[in-house]
This record gives sequence, C-alpha cells and structure tokens, in this order.
Amino acid sequence: MIIAIDGPAGSGKSSTAKSVAMQLGFVHLDTGAMYRAITLKSLENSVDYRDTDSLKQLVDSTEMWFEGVLPENRTILDGRDVSKEIRSDEVTKNVSDYCAPLVVREALVEQQRKIGERGDVVCEGRDMGSVVFPNAELKIYMVASVEARAIRRQKDFEKLGVTKSVEELIADINERDHKDSSRENSPLYRPDGSVLLDTTDLTFEEQVQFIVDSARELMK
Ligand code: DC
Repeated sequence: MIIAIDGPAGSGKSSTAKSVAMQLGFVHLDTGAMYRAITLKSLENSVDYRDTDSLKQLVDSTEMWFEGVLPENRTILDGRDVSKEIRSDEVTKNVSDYCAPLVVREALVEQQRKIGERGDVVCEGRDMGSVVFPNAELKIYMVASVEARAIRRQKDFEKLGVTKSVEELIADINERDHKDSSRENSPLYRPDGSVLLDTTDLTFEEQVQFIVDSARELMK
C-alpha cells in the first residue's frame, strides 16, 4: 500500500508520516529531504539553479539513499550523512529554486517511484498524490493555518537553540508556499481523491491516528 501525504511547508507532514510509518511498519519516504540534498550539493559546488546543463550533470552524478531504523531516518548523499546540513537556513532558503527545474524533478521522481515499487510506503512531499503516485491507495492533503505552522516551526527552532519571531516565520512560510504553488513543474495542489486533513486544532496524536485508522480500514 502507498500512503501519499502532501501539503504546504510546516503542515506537520514529516513527523506525521514518520509516526504513521512506524505504527504500520511501513517505509518512510521524505521526498523533501531529497530536494534538500540536491540543493546542498549544488550550493557546495556553486551550481546555479538556472544552469540546466551543470545541474543535470550534478544530479546524474549523485547517489542518494536513506539509512537507519525509524524514528531515525538519515539522508546519505554520495556516502556522506547530510541529515543535519539539509535542514540549515541556507538550504531552506534556496530549496524552492533548486526543486523546480525539470532535470531535478524527473531524476528524483524516478528514484521515488523505484522506492514505491517495493510497496508499503508512507511518502510525503508536494506532488506525491498528484504526480509521483497518482494511484496511491490513500492520499492525504494536510493543511494548517499559517499561524499554527509558524508557531510549530518556532518550537522546532527553539530545540536547536535558535530564536525566531512568529512574524518572520510567517513571512518565510508565505514565500515558500507561494513558490511551491506557483511553479511551472509539479506545483503544490490538493490532488484528486485526497482526504483533506486540517491539523490546526488537532493534536499530533490525533492526526497520526486519523491516517493510521484510514489505512487500516482500507487494508481490511
Ligand atoms: O518538505 P520540505 O520542507 O523538506 O521540502 C523542501 C522543499 O522541497 C519545499 O520547498 C518543496 C520541495 N518539495 C517538492 O517540490 N516536492 C516534493 N515532493 C517535496 C518537497
């Protein structure tokens, strides 16, 4: 079974998908981490996102995979553990530009489908139910108010010892939402056949339980 979870930045997809995968014994596929890893490598190699030839070369010469037993899910880029670096401010600021070019999307979507072929996957991103796995058995579109998402991000940053104002985070989220939804290739939108899950007033446990129950119902 494939569970496809899409939604805007900060809607809680990653932590939810991971927890759902653990409860069901499924693989967790964090496709945002893949786009972040390509962004990191491009920045390290000074490859501009508009330089299609160099970007294609970089993507074609990249090996990426995930390691670890959940809740640990380490992102390995060309043999190097980049799990921390891909969450840096620098990568977060640039990822919307690097995830948009067709050369990047085609290569990563192919890898994602290969992982999906093995079955029993909870995948999360922006185009899981629309482009990558349009036939997924369960599609969830997760949303939450911008304020709720900014407050969650603020707590995540606090854990890393970083102080950010809610206003600044709202501006960041709005900018990323706009870029993700308005880009030409695979923009973010609610896919056909998806269940809308608004997590603004739900606890983390409630949102996980909703998806686990929906999946179990389908497996009966
Ligand atoms: O979920 P995230 O914040 O880690 O995603 C990082 C970026 O990657 C985000 O700006 C949107 C993009 N992304 C995408 O375009 N398609 C996906 N399937 C997953 C993420």
